[in-house]
Amino acid sequence: MRNVIILAAGEGKRMKSALPKVLHPLLGRTLVGHVLAATESFLDNGTVTVVVGHGADQVRAHLEQVAPAAVPVTQAEQRGTGHAVRIALDANPEIAGTVVVLNGDIPLLRAETLAALVHTHETTKAAATVLTAEVADPTGLGRIVRNRGGEFAAIVEERDATPAQRAIREINSGAYVFEAAALREMLGKLSTDNDQGEEYLTDVIGLLAEAGSPIVAHRAPDATETLGANDRAELAGLRAIMRDRVNDEWMRAGVAIIDPATTWIDVTVTLERDAVVEPNTHLRGATSIGEGAVVGPDTSLIDVVVGAGATVLRTHALSSEIGPQASVGPFAYLRPGSRLGVKAKIGTFVETKAATLGDGAKVPHLSYVGDAEIGEGTNIGAATVFVNYDGVKKQRSVIGAHARTGADNMFVAPVHVGDGAYTAAGSVIVKDVPPGALGVSRAHQRNIEGWVERKRPGTAAAVAAAEANAVFQEREEHHVDPGPVVERPAPDEQ
Ligand code: UD1
Ligand code: CA
Repeated sequence: MRNVIILAAGEGKRMKSALPKVLHPLLGRTLVGHVLAATESFLDNGTVTVVVGHGADQVRAHLEQVAPAAVPVTQAEQRGTGHAVRIALDANPEIAGTVVVLNGDIPLLRAETLAALVHTHETTKAAATVLTAEVADPTGLGRIVRNRGGEFAAIVEERDATPAQRAIREINSGAYVFEAAALREMLGKLSTDNDQGEEYLTDVIGLLAEAGSPIVAHRAPDATETLGANDRAELAGLRAIMRDRVNDEWMRAGVAIIDPATTWIDVTVTLERDAVVEPNTHLRGATSIGEGAVVGPDTSLIDVVVGAGATVLRTHALSSEIGPQASVGPFAYLRPGSRLGVKAKIGTFVETKAATLGDGAKVPHLSYVGDAEIGEGTNIGAATVFVNYDGVKKQRSVIGAHARTGADNMFVAPVHVGDGAYTAAGSVIVKDVPPGALGVSRAHQRNIEGWVERKRPGTAAAVAAAEANAVFQEREEHHVDPGPVVERPAPDEQ
């Protein structure tokens, strides 16, 4: 049986954060979430134990969400990585066979690399197999010390190392595989005789080597996989590596990423071929992008499904569905529960929430559509507001299919506009409009002649009006065709 122990009790002081280090986010998962995900491929129904300590409640709550099968074990005082593993094994006396131990702060480890590590361990029948890497700058890491014959002899922490050992560039990644019985035995023999006064897991290796047990070093094919983050600057470095890795994979899968340096795609996102991701675009969570869809530039999509051939331009959208060949933006804000049908359109400066647009329905300009259903083929006039909130409760409005609503309408919920109905521009619609009817609700216009010259004498408006009226009168007297510029309607009857 295979078993995994993840060490996640440390505080991560240098993050200077209220959040425990392992819960910091990195392109769609937390640090510990990435480590957990990488174990799935080889776990084979084994156990997963996570050692928690600092921020234990937060870490437990997170595990409940992302890995409910993982069993948290509390290490009340952080007395070292060896102490942490000992607590995990003591809490699980049934653990036998292969035990994979992973530091919770090495999120770039690939699942394939871990699977290869486990494979090496099981085929060589080693007592312990350590994932190592050759790095340019080994500062702060445990060094792999070999004996004269080149055999793996021990891991020495930097602070306990001699100058000669510090010069070694082969480092301990913090990923190991042990044979459970050998691990248990040596954990019982750990001392705290080191610079930090802690029980080091790494000392298990030296003890096993001394006892003549076979130890194997498995080199990571890509040293960046073993990088950890101790502060936020290092975390940003890891994030950039992960971004490049994710973008490279999608480009190789047929996705066009115009500017990979400004494109941030969570590991949980999927894209179909010929999708185009324009610069400065963030695709997060459970987002999926259909074939040939174009997203961005300057767009953030969080848990959004984008259909094939849709375009989403300068948009911020959350928990929404954008249908095939639909068009969104520029400058749109789709809040949760927005659902657009095939070829539907959300245009410029439009906000939607819990709104359904049927196939081909359009809300092209300057509108708020909250708690509404808009039928297929319907066009909503510019500057429309679905007035969904009466100060106490939110209510829904429905506009039927193939309706034409005028510009600057207020639909005061709950209101129903029938199929094929029209509403007049500037209307406040508070009553249902039957199918095919025209809903109008506004005062008739009246023009008060000469108002500006009487009430605002001497202003630029009054001068302009006087000039226009003079020209008009002149032409009337000489029976000149007034032309389109000075044409004016007859005064209203007062
Ligand atoms: C450790 C290794 C070092 C290796 C490096 C790789 C030891 C002694 N050293 O050093 O050889 O090169 O990782 O990144 O193991 N933790 C607990 N309980 C504790 C202490 C730590 O759960 O009492 C957890 C931490 O939360 C962290 C992991 O163990 O996830 C590693 O601990 P950390 O203090 O970061 O060890 P390093 O000094 O990085
Ligand atoms: Ca570390």
